[in-house]
Amino acid sequence: MIDTLDTLDTIVEFEFLRATESAAIAAGRLVGRGDKNAIDGAAVQAMRTSLATAHVGGTVVIGEGEKDDAPMLYHGERIGNGEGAQLDVAVDPIDGTTLASKGGSGAISVIAAADRGSLFHTRVPYMEKIVVGPRARGCVSLDVDPATNVLAVAHAMKRHVSEITVALLDRPRNAAILESVRSAGARIRLFTDGDVMTAIIAVLEDRGRLDLLMGIGGAPEGVVTACAVRALGGDMEGRLWLRDAEDQAIARSEDINVAAVLSLDELCRSKRTLLVATGVTDGELLEGVRYVGKLAHTQSFLVSSLSRSIRRVETTHNVGPEANS
Ligand code: FBP
Repeated sequence: MIDTLDTLDTIVEFEFLRATESAAIAAGRLVGRGDKNAIDGAAVQAMRTSLATAHVGGTVVIGEGEKDDAPMLYHGERIGNGEGAQLDVAVDPIDGTTLASKGGSGAISVIAAADRGSLFHTRVPYMEKIVVGPRARGCVSLDVDPATNVLAVAHAMKRHVSEITVALLDRPRNAAILESVRSAGARIRLFTDGDVMTAIIAVLEDRGRLDLLMGIGGAPEGVVTACAVRALGGDMEGRLWLRDAEDQAIARSEDINVAAVLSLDELCRSKRTLLVATGVTDGELLEGVRYVGKLAHTQSFLVSSLSRSIRRVETTHNVGPEANS
């Protein structure tokens, strides 16, 4: 039976929560061991196993590494039992594999979803992004320079620009944006990895900790972020960023106008979105996985546009051997 999309909020949320929790628990055991691939592999395997039985008809639109030959959770893979809500699904089994491999803070496992056919997809790997919370909705644009955007946000929030904090991925490719933001006089938080959770913190407008996320990061992470921005009532724009001739060839083959600014509506055409994230390592928003005896404790964050809810979920999992094994 195909359920109505109202199930997006009820069953799917729980199914995806189980999947990010499983991925975090599997990957969490490998934290700090210096092996990014092992962490990612453990998370992918656990997430895929969990999603296989989910009561959902999902198609992976944003998948593992965006490689066509990725064996699991690849673009176009069907997940779930095919019943229930019919969705586009964006997975990032670990956002922050480098962080997790070093035991650094802020690695998460995340799944986002929206109505079938509504999520933007490209194999171009990088995207420039600007993300703000509800109070600055409609005030920012990638068509103007970063300093102008920062001043617009300060104006919208009725704060002096020196009280506005901009998060920026610390990469050489973001140097010009950094300079422009500095010239406007805003505060800056440079971070090394994990722009999905950093963007969410900006959209939450939580006590002025972060007000904007700007800069060039992963394109898949941009689409995942768009689902959260939509559910939280914030605003976002994206624009693909090409490194080299290979990226240009991808864009050409997809017939994408790379100069075009992608609005939130273009990144995510559905108004019904959800995002579920579970902490892998301790971070600003979520605690990482803890193992105590036969138990694993996880902390997750769920945001859904349908229920207009933000939930934090703490789960204790029995991860000891089964009684009859
Ligand atoms: P991974 O966990 O897939 O490595 O992504 C981490 C991340 O920091 C993303 O949050 C960000 O969008 C992207 O990498 C930036 O890419 P790069 O590290 O290549 O600059």
